[in-house]
Amino acid sequence: MSALHDEINRLKEEKNAIILAHNYQPKEIQEIADFLGDSLELCIKASQIEDKDLVVFCGVDFMAETAYILNPDKKIVIPDLEAECPMAHMLPEEELLKAKEEHPDAGVILYVNSIAEAKQHADTLCTSANAVKVTESLPHDKILFGPDKNLGMHVQKSIDKEIIPTPKDGHCYVHRLFHVEDIELKREQYPNAVVICHPECSPEVQEACDEILSTGRMLKFIAESEKEEFIIGTEIDMITRINSEVPGKKLYPLLEGAICKTMKLHTLEKVRDALKNEAPEIIVPKDVAEKSLKAVQHMLESSK
Ligand code: 13P
Ligand code: SF4
Repeated sequence: MSALHDEINRLKEEKNAIILAHNYQPKEIQEIADFLGDSLELCIKASQIEDKDLVVFCGVDFMAETAYILNPDKKIVIPDLEAECPMAHMLPEEELLKAKEEHPDAGVILYVNSIAEAKQHADTLCTSANAVKVTESLPHDKILFGPDKNLGMHVQKSIDKEIIPTPKDGHCYVHRLFHVEDIELKREQYPNAVVICHPECSPEVQEACDEILSTGRMLKFIAESEKEEFIIGTEIDMITRINSEVPGKKLYPLLEGAICKTMKLHTLEKVRDALKNEAPEIIVPKDVAEKSLKAVQHMLESSK
């Protein structure tokens, strides 16, 4: 272990801190995290950290904001404040309010990848791991669903409700990089491999895959599968996570260049500094956090 690792561990103990990290974090961050997971697993974990005073969130802004909404009395810090998810910013509060006015009879489900100012106007939230279940849990026949159009269309396929994408073309720029031709090419190269993609991929890509799974479910699926080879259609460091936990499998990226740039802004040095300085802090305005909590709790309840 390096001196930097020692320093991080010492500061963590001194500050009674926990390091939460998303599956897309680079290897060195995955290795020092106390808890690694997909968005839903991270939300659940963030709701169970009563004994900690400080949370270092190695992920993107909306994840740290959700941890704050669940823990307004704790300090939530993010090693690099620039780590934003562009998709989360594709649905501004005003646009959601306008859509609600146009569809007053619709329920509102927001992907957890949304800004807190929008979350406060949602009936509930979802992640890619629980989107269908959460949508079923609302009594409405019509659902305003945003910001990810592709996840909305994925839900639409298995549910008898009308999904209205809000905005019309919310998307993840990383998952938009995948095309059907990439799958065809990889299938030729690795004919025995199971092709797995994330529901943020386009409907055509989803259609051409064998499994459509959240990052957490990818890990579970591969661990439980008797198959040996898998083509992974999501952010590149998901392979790092699976490799470290499920030895003996052969994993091939659908695209080597599928990199979420902002997820990679966190470094060990920045984690050390965040612990030392208890900054940069993520703070959601009190009224916004209070109003958003209802939707976060509804999601956690309905995904049990
Ligand atoms: P997961 O919840 O599947 O980890 O997805 C989060 C995300 O941002 C995918 O791009
Ligand atoms: Fe946002 Fe896409 Fe990065 Fe996920 S991969 S955090 S949706 S930009």
